[in-house]
Amino acid sequence: MNSVIPVLDPASPQAEAINNLFLLVLLISAVIFAIVTGLILIAISKGRRRQTLPDQDFGSEKAEIAWIVGPVVIVLWLVAISANLVITLNAIPDVKPHGDQDVDDVELIVTGHQWWWEVEYPKAGVISANEIYIPADPKKKYRILVKSDDVIHCFWVPQLGPKIDAIPGRDNYIWLQANQPGAYQGRCSEYCGAQHAWMNFKVYGVTEEEYQKFLLREQQKPEPTKLISPLAMAGREYFFKATCPRCHKIEGTSAQAMIGPDLTHFASRKEIGSGVLENSTENLTRWLKDPQAVKPGCKMPNFKLSETNLKQLVAYLETLK
Ligand code: CUA
Repeated sequence: MNSVIPVLDPASPQAEAINNLFLLVLLISAVIFAIVTGLILIAISKGRRRQTLPDQDFGSEKAEIAWIVGPVVIVLWLVAISANLVITLNAIPDVKPHGDQDVDDVELIVTGHQWWWEVEYPKAGVISANEIYIPADPKKKYRILVKSDDVIHCFWVPQLGPKIDAIPGRDNYIWLQANQPGAYQGRCSEYCGAQHAWMNFKVYGVTEEEYQKFLLREQQKPEPTKLISPLAMAGREYFFKATCPRCHKIEGTSAQAMIGPDLTHFASRKEIGSGVLENSTENLTRWLKDPQAVKPGCKMPNFKLSETNLKQLVAYLETLK
């Protein structure tokens, strides 16, 4: 469902309202543009043929009042409908996603990091990265708390509507909803450093049933080690011997750091490095071999892993479903 121009392909009531306002403003501007350029063109074509100076009517009160009042009325009207839209977008919905919850009782906490998104479902006790799941239902809005861990980022899913800055030390809230199931591309829309362009994420609108299934899956800890292949076992051993646990977390193990993305269900995610690569064996190998070659400036250094360790780590990470 990736449109060529996502903002013109709204997939939520909020995005539709924004799109309608945009089209209305565009239409008004187009009419004004046509009138102004039309008058200029008429003046040019008429004036060319005329040899004498046209009438100089300085101080025409009527004309002055007309071109002050006209634009002021148009601008005030645009301010009014824009303000009304903002109020509508921020309104507390009648139907809350899961029962009678408080406004501050958020479904999701999204934290911007250079350059990836941490995604937490506080009520389910689930933490993930760069992929957000919400039940797709045009009647329900999901309240999301947006934070930042370092610099100012901006959380935006063009097809779903409004955007909100992620500001260090400040809690911002946004409502998210989707009309129907689908994958919606999200982007960081505030310049935040070298890899700002690769700070993408996806919002997956799913059915309520799939959403509950997703949460259940994410709540599980990784499979017991005895079920994985010897290669993956060796990878697991290497993971904990190397510096990986100093930055990453895998639930149910001694790796508890939150500097890089949580890897508990890494293999279930569809992309690597905040949308920079699809999650495949080949791409994961490429990433681990030299993250700096794939995403220059990212916080993960090139560990110059041996071919053997590389294969082992890939095998282990692929067990984290
Ligand atoms: Cu984060 Cu731009």
